[in-house]
Amino acid sequence: MSSLLENQISQQDSGGNSTFKEYSVAEFFKKNKQMLGFSGKVRSLTTIVHEYITNSLDACEEAGILPHLRVELEQLGPDKYRVIVADNGPGLPKRLIGKALGKMLAGTKFHRHIQQRGQQGIGAAGATLYAQLTTGKGIHVISGHKGKMISCDVSIDFKTNEPKVENLVEQESSFHGLTVEGEFANVKFDKGHYGVLEYLKRTAIANPHATIQFRAPDGQTIVFERTSNTLPKPPKEIKPHPLGITPHDLLDIAHVTAATKLGSMLQTDLIRFSADKLSKLKSLLPDIDFSKPPKDLKWQEAESIVKAFKQLKWIAPPTDVLSPIGQEQVEESLKNILYPEIVAVVERPPKVLWGGIPFQVEAAIAFGGKISRGGEIMRFANKAPLLFDAAGDAVTQVVKSIDWSRYGLRKFEEEPIVILVNVVSTHIPYISAGKQAISPEQGLTDEIKNALQEAARRIKLHIGHKRKEAEISKKKKAFLRYVSQISSDLALLADMPKEAIEDKIKSIIEYRFDMAKGREKTEKELEGASFGDESNSEVSA
Ligand SMILES: Nc1ncnc2c1ncn2[C@@H]1O[C@H](COP(=O)(O)OP(=O)(O)OP(=O)(O)O)[C@@H](O)[C@H]1O
Ligand SMILES: [Mg+2]
Repeated sequence: MSSLLENQISQQDSGGNSTFKEYSVAEFFKKNKQMLGFSGKVRSLTTIVHEYITNSLDACEEAGILPHLRVELEQLGPDKYRVIVADNGPGLPKRLIGKALGKMLAGTKFHRHIQQRGQQGIGAAGATLYAQLTTGKGIHVISGHKGKMISCDVSIDFKTNEPKVENLVEQESSFHGLTVEGEFANVKFDKGHYGVLEYLKRTAIANPHATIQFRAPDGQTIVFERTSNTLPKPPKEIKPHPLGITPHDLLDIAHVTAATKLGSMLQTDLIRFSADKLSKLKSLLPDIDFSKPPKDLKWQEAESIVKAFKQLKWIAPPTDVLSPIGQEQVEESLKNILYPEIVAVVERPPKVLWGGIPFQVEAAIAFGGKISRGGEIMRFANKAPLLFDAAGDAVTQVVKSIDWSRYGLRKFEEEPIVILVNVVSTHIPYISAGKQAISPEQGLTDEIKNALQEAARRIKLHIGHKRKEAEISKKKKAFLRYVSQISSDLALLADMPKEAIEDKIKSIIEYRFDMAKGREKTEKELEGASFGDESNSEVSA
């Protein structure tokens, strides 16, 4: 054993514990920034834009404002960029600016059960943390909120996870919205699949009600104009369902509830919890005192209660609380942005995960047209694009498990096909804090598979028809290649003008191949194509 380790152990044994320290959550993520998506230069830049854009869309949606977003990237050095993200949302009041953008695990979403893009209270502060780690400076914020415009600098005190707000200037203004500006190093702009431009394109596809303006580092401006002037049906907030919570969730509720007794907390803070359910629960758990204050709830008891929930029969949570993109909007978006030949969109009815969390899957397949070959999967969670960590993701796994040859597609990776899957839920089961991959939970993967297979069935006919047409055209071309030579030979043999024979052979070929394509012929066309009817023939014997 090394002497250092011996020393530590002996100190601990003697109660010294000099190596035992406490860390703030900001210290933790400072060390583990890859967990927030800050790994690799291209990914880090996309992560920054993703965090700000999802916040802007959430804020606009909640305030009922049609989003107009502006993203600007300016290159400051080989791996250093200025990032500006501006929205026309409700902005933030002075007292919340620091907490919202400079404190981890703080926000308006973590404790709520509503479909939103953000759900952890880490994203924006994570971007501030990355700015500080790579440039030593925090971010600059301009917030327009309820007649006031505030500009200030925000950074995080890593030791305490408390925000530092400096250089604050406040003035009267009717401007509303939030603009965040920061300098970030160890990042890189890339026009490829994992870059900011692709991210914004996908955001535009899933949010047809948003206008997104992007200024690339080379000065080029690209605008994704909104294709819909109506806000999507807003998602509704619900209380957690007994089958959708963990013992941890129950303890969290117990700490913030306004109820004075454990029993009444279950009834007021959970959905579908009737008096009858409470008496059934009491008979299952006679040792638990349901009249005690909720804050006295112990872990063991919370665990027993959550276990007992699973033995009772519950009415499922309401599922009309979700807000998918919508069938028509998906179709419109894909047509406007990808110019495919055909699009099939399937919106599955909402379902419930683990018995208590509402979710819904919408899927689309776009095929042909301007789509380049190389089967592409566009994944979305609550309308936010997921560009990274595809390997473990539910959608990727389902796409891989489907036998695409059954739908007339030879090799998915080589076809001109784009697959879109959007999962909406009050709680997306992400695999990690980076929020880029959805856990492949059984009920969820079944829904994704059903949606994709249905969409594939719809395009199968079209693909089959197209393939047949292509084969026929190829054969037709081969026949037409010999018409001139054969006509010359026949003209010599029959002593007839070559042109007349050539015209006839061509019309027969046209006729036969049109028939093969399944085209209905008019009487006239049939007559015209026949050698037997002399009245229509220009050939005279
Ligand atoms: N553009 C904005 N307009 C208004 N409020 C905002 C904006 N950006 C952030 N906020 C507020 O700041 C809070 C913290 O944002 P942050 O991105 O850190 O967490 P989140 O969005 O709640 O969850 P997640 O970590 O999953 O992104 C949000 O919950 C929201 O209340
Ligand atoms: Mg967020």
